[in-house]
Amino acid sequence: SGNFPVSIIEGDGIGPEISQAVKDIFKAAGTPISWEPVDVTPTLVNGKTSIPADTIESIQRNKVALKGPLATPVGKGHVSLNLTLRRTFNLFANLRPCRSVAGYKTPYDNVDTVLIRENTEGEYSGIEHVVVDGVVQSIKLITREASERVLRFAFQQAEEIGRKKVRVVHKATIMKMSDGLFLKVARDVAKDYPNIEFDAELLDNTCLKMVTDPVPYNDKVLVMPNLYGDILSDMCAGLIGGLGLTPSGNIGDECSIFEAVHGSAPDIAGKGLANPTALLLSSMMMLRHMGLNDYANRIEKAAFDTLAEGKALTGDLGGKAKTHEFAAAIISKL
Ligand code: IPM
Ligand code: MN
Repeated sequence: SGNFPVSIIEGDGIGPEISQAVKDIFKAAGTPISWEPVDVTPTLVNGKTSIPADTIESIQRNKVALKGPLATPVGKGHVSLNLTLRRTFNLFANLRPCRSVAGYKTPYDNVDTVLIRENTEGEYSGIEHVVVDGVVQSIKLITREASERVLRFAFQQAEEIGRKKVRVVHKATIMKMSDGLFLKVARDVAKDYPNIEFDAELLDNTCLKMVTDPVPYNDKVLVMPNLYGDILSDMCAGLIGGLGLTPSGNIGDECSIFEAVHGSAPDIAGKGLANPTALLLSSMMMLRHMGLNDYANRIEKAAFDTLAEGKALTGDLGGKAKTHEFAAAIISKL
């Protein structure tokens, strides 16, 4: 226990196991966090997916939450719980870095990308309707307000982490009005950050260039509308070995939720086989967000050293270690 309370949504499937690994590592590192477990079992209130009131209170009080994977309930009229959380707390920016893991071989070396995804609107607005039978419309909603706050966040992030350029990824050649507005707001916001360079690139071209050679992106912060960020962040994860190795932070003005983006892996749940790296790296983002950088640096080094050494890797990384053995190897290096 400690002076920094954090709400924890352990999640479904492998969620409790990987959460336990993170808690064990935090404890061994003497991290001054006290965990407040919260339940996000959804209820339908007036036809809208909602999470329990005491969970909302906990996250609002603590301002920080760590979240494991949640299975999306099917067939009950619920929208994704992940989206519900982002909406409930107005978590407007989704920060998704991807850094190569030494010891895990991919066709790419030294990848270090930072992607920021608008997290509240775009194609995720949920506004859809049937025009006539056989014809539907799904609305991509872009507002100046949401665009401006995520773009400001991108420039602030570039300053904070020392990257020289913010690049908007878009498709304004086709989505003339929506991406056009996002791009226009970006140009305006850029004027407030004279020390950060700004440019823009078409999404298809970004994909082509990143899979060819991602390293030129290491000095940039990429920022883009919601759906592009959803897709491109998975592609970036693929460059370094997949969603098992990538962290994510949903950032808002009032509170922030750090989460593993991978699924709940029901096939291996309860067997002690899961890789906790994505949740652990998300918890490092969380510690830094809370100003607990020294703990983050120490735990992160132990984790990367353990991965590089390759002696206690979980099955997904080609090893034979159990979740708790991987955690123990990290703890032994603290
Ligand atoms: C993600 C996920 C979610 C999304 C799903 C689970 C709703 O893919 O966090 O990237 O589409 O945003
Ligand atoms: Mn996704």
